[in-house]
Amino acid sequence: MIHDPNKVYIFDTTLRDGEQVPGCQLDTNQKIEIAKSLEFLGVDVIEAGFPVSSPGDFNSVIELSKAVKDPIICALTRANKNDIDVAADALRFAKRPRIHTGIGASDMHIKTKFNSTREDILERGVEAVRYAKKYVEDVEFYAEDAGRADIEFLAKMVEAVIAAGATVVNIPDTNGYCLPDQYGSKILYLKENVKNIHKAIISVHCHNDLGLATANSIAGLQNGARQVECTVNGIGERAGNTSMEEVVMILKTHKSLNLHTNINTQGFYNISRHVSEQMNMLVQPNKAIVGGNAFSHSSGIHQDGFLKNRENYEIIKPEDVGFPSAAIVLTARSGRHALKHHLDRLGHTLDKDNLDIVYKQFLVLADSKQGIDDHDLNQLVALNLV
Ligand code: KIV
Ligand code: ZN
Repeated sequence: MIHDPNKVYIFDTTLRDGEQVPGCQLDTNQKIEIAKSLEFLGVDVIEAGFPVSSPGDFNSVIELSKAVKDPIICALTRANKNDIDVAADALRFAKRPRIHTGIGASDMHIKTKFNSTREDILERGVEAVRYAKKYVEDVEFYAEDAGRADIEFLAKMVEAVIAAGATVVNIPDTNGYCLPDQYGSKILYLKENVKNIHKAIISVHCHNDLGLATANSIAGLQNGARQVECTVNGIGERAGNTSMEEVVMILKTHKSLNLHTNINTQGFYNISRHVSEQMNMLVQPNKAIVGGNAFSHSSGIHQDGFLKNRENYEIIKPEDVGFPSAAIVLTARSGRHALKHHLDRLGHTLDKDNLDIVYKQFLVLADSKQGIDDHDLNQLVALNLV
């Protein structure tokens, strides 16, 4: 396959890594609805589940494979034959199936999780890829805890699994441990030292334990990775995964990166709320891109600058991510300019003296309550005009 060198593939794992969050479990119908929204959004790969983990997950992968036609449908396995047999079975209706298999790559995982050796683990990884290749052409390999793995061993492992047929190599920072320059350097090292690396796509899969998932993913892309694994709203194990809307909007905003995706960004707000409702996971108000306050301006200095020219305080247009609209929120920190903006909107055109009077009373009221609404403004005008 010929790849556009500047295209970043979006691999969504909301329904697998995201759904692992306690309380976020979905039934098959809910998963199908989300998968259809992801397809509409334009994601390239949907990780539909971990079929061996439960009959429900197995069934969901089957039904999703039937319901979705454009994106690749991916199923997760550990590096053993039974997991791979079950995943292949669950993917039997997928138009474009992918098996995602792998094993721990750090010495920590090799010794204390598998009680094994580097040689044995590498062999198991290679065997798993070879076995998965019997079922599907598209096999992604994950080197779990790659963020803490010895880089020379990681490179050896990546080279061996590509030789065995892996089409995508996933380098997860499973514990969200790396700094962006460390993670970026890891990807660059693989790019420069794995001799068959051109035969596979490098994928980044970052967790957010230190709040660096998005920064690390971007560092990986800047150093040669071309697939990013992410979730809607950044949900996922512990502190979550890389947030899809953040990565995509960074690539869109920073044209100098010269990278693009296939995502219709105007769908972000809707899918964010849909996932939040279905999974009972509130979106924090200050969440980048889709949080309730992401496009609200409340301090007088910002409001004045925004009303003179939106771009003083807006690097993304709300409509570009499907956000209802920017908001000038009236609080005790607001200035005359913002008050006038809302009074004009309500049809009250005040001269300077009256605006000063109403503004004084507005501050008194705003100090005493959380938010000022249209009813409050109408009252202020009615009671204070001279
Ligand atoms: O975080 C991780 O390492 C994973 C793998 C299973 C891909 O989710
Ligand atoms: Zn993960």
